[in-house]
Amino acid sequence: MSANYKNIKTETDDEGIVWIHLDKADSSTNILSADLMDELEQELTNLNNKPPRAVIFLSDKKNGFIAGADINEFTRLETEHVALTVIQRGQRVMNMIERMPCPTVALIHGFCLGGGFELALACRYRIADNDTKTKIGLPEIKLGIHPGFGGAVRSIRTAGPINAMNMMLTGRTFSAKAAKKMGLLHYAIPKRHLMTAARSVIKKPPTEPKIAWWAKLANNRYARPLVKKVLIKQVSKKAIRAHYPAPYALIDIWERYADDEQRFMEEEAISVSQLILTKTAQNLVRVFGLQEKMKAYSKIKDYNPKHIHVIGGGVMGGDIAAWCALQGFSVTIQDKEQKTLAGVMKRAYSLYKKKLKKRLLITEAMDRLVPDIKGNGLKQADVVIEAIFEDAEVKSNLFREIEPQLKPDTIIATNTSSIPLEQLAPALKDSSRLVGLHFFNPVAKMPLVEIVCGKSTSEQTMQRAANITKTIRRLPLPVSSSPGFLVNRILMPYLMEAVVLAEEGVPLKAIDKAATEFGMPMGPIELADTVGLDICLKVAENLSQQMDIGVPERLRNLVNNKNLGKKTGRGFYTFKKGKPVKPDLSKDYTPPTDLPDRLILRLLNEAVACLRDGVVDSIDMVDAGVIFGTGFAPFRGGPMTYANSRGIEQLVKLLENLDSRYGNRFKPDIGWQELLKTE
Ligand code: NAI
Repeated sequence: MSANYKNIKTETDDEGIVWIHLDKADSSTNILSADLMDELEQELTNLNNKPPRAVIFLSDKKNGFIAGADINEFTRLETEHVALTVIQRGQRVMNMIERMPCPTVALIHGFCLGGGFELALACRYRIADNDTKTKIGLPEIKLGIHPGFGGAVRSIRTAGPINAMNMMLTGRTFSAKAAKKMGLLHYAIPKRHLMTAARSVIKKPPTEPKIAWWAKLANNRYARPLVKKVLIKQVSKKAIRAHYPAPYALIDIWERYADDEQRFMEEEAISVSQLILTKTAQNLVRVFGLQEKMKAYSKIKDYNPKHIHVIGGGVMGGDIAAWCALQGFSVTIQDKEQKTLAGVMKRAYSLYKKKLKKRLLITEAMDRLVPDIKGNGLKQADVVIEAIFEDAEVKSNLFREIEPQLKPDTIIATNTSSIPLEQLAPALKDSSRLVGLHFFNPVAKMPLVEIVCGKSTSEQTMQRAANITKTIRRLPLPVSSSPGFLVNRILMPYLMEAVVLAEEGVPLKAIDKAATEFGMPMGPIELADTVGLDICLKVAENLSQQMDIGVPERLRNLVNNKNLGKKTGRGFYTFKKGKPVKPDLSKDYTPPTDLPDRLILRLLNEAVACLRDGVVDSIDMVDAGVIFGTGFAPFRGGPMTYANSRGIEQLVKLLENLDSRYGNRFKPDIGWQELLKTE
């Protein structure tokens, strides 16, 4: 047993095999931090001088092999030169593993991502636990970079460019079975066989996974330009080069240098050292960190709810119930209408089929979701989530009716999107257990849940609500019980401005295009149609009682005529097969030059107002809420970071200008003054 290392432990067994146990100090997860890399480099140098029979890398952490490089170290890289040195060092360590004069094996369980999988790829053999918790991938693209420790070269060599590019360009993670099928692993087997399999590949090399002939062909110098075109076409559907340069950079270096691995690897490092300093990468890394901050709102450990009872099986309640059951809770779902409950079960089945795939798992999830028209589940529920009509009176009546049936410590959560909790609290005897759990539509796709804290909500209830949110793999964001909370309040002025622009005669497609070019996942007109115009109108009207938001007539007219958007097949757009039909813009049409600013500045102005009002506790949380609740261009780092990047003073002047031209809905919020002081 070797000493002096903090993060790795090596032992030699009686067969002369060296086992390198990765066990990062003071961390529940292995990451390739600088100190761990130092130790690895030193150990590999020692082993190289006196090669053992074989080296096996394994992790002593419960959750997995290695989750990736140390992201926090990225943010401290100040120049391209420093970045390049760090990346080249990573490559050096991986090359040492690859060049060991003895067999090397990566024994994988749980997370094996990014730099972790790059290390595995440098080993001669890769064997993984076939449990569902095993996740293999190179997700660097999600942080605005691509693999840099030789992972691009080695994944392409190992699995062929089509499979490897698919993994790297999407950033998707794969099960052990899928990774094996792609040729990335030698074995995907049950955990209990891992050690034996590792010993056996050392003694008798397994047959190498075969790459299909067509996959090899894609790497051919004459085929590459064509494949590059296809890849670029696919990537550009999701992200443009100016916003997300990393996938394009990866495709470029592969196309140019795939014939010369040495050069390809050098270019891989250079490319990452440049990408890592871009605003996109810096913002994406920060946004990644914000998720961790949100998860940290859930601090309690001794809370163990088992049963969730959802009331209201409509758009939201049905999907919330299905999601909670998918995440392992036993769930009862109550509605007044039997046929609504049948609809919930049908939708749940499609969700489970998509997510779980295996029949047994689908059946188990369906068994956890129980339709409950009489509300029998109330008695044993640890949490009740109310998602009935958006009406304070109706919700209050329901609360009065159910409270006597609940256990004393059952949490009562409402999914209201606009009613302040103070209006609902009087209906309850114990309103300290009332909290808002505001999900976003569609529940299975939107990661954010606003935890709405009313005046009477106890700290314990808030903590429990955050805990449940985290348990169902959503991001909790505590917000104050104020009109529209955070996300809807910020989103509505933007949506309403889009409708005003439409009223002024700006073509709908031009409005949506301005937003998607800014980096929004969907334009505001299409978004309003998707959410439902009746819901938009209701939220806008509620908000307009408290703030100067302005509800355009065109929206009211559409709702009065029952053109509610996607759900009725017609709203601003007409929908065909669930997709909006957007008439082409005439060739000589040029949109107003202030179009993007009119949309985005109303959003930014409201974000500043929310910060000033203390709806959330920090700039970070305004950014996080808007990104995870609306999809706001993550590469811009959220509204507040974007505002900073444009310059606060400059934005205030622009708002004043828009105010004088279009009216006081653009009046700069007084909160900007505070920001000016810190600029
Ligand atoms: P919905 O109209 O689709 O569903 C409401 C369901 O509640 C209906 O199935 C109805 O039969 C049932 N219901 C009404 N009163 C009931 C009672 N006393 N007992 C049992 N069931 C009852 O409404 P949706 O859109 O699902 O909204 C529900 C709540 O979620 C509202 O408070 C809404 O503001 C909020 N919300 C809606 C979002 C959306 O995008 N639709 C997004 C976030 C929150």
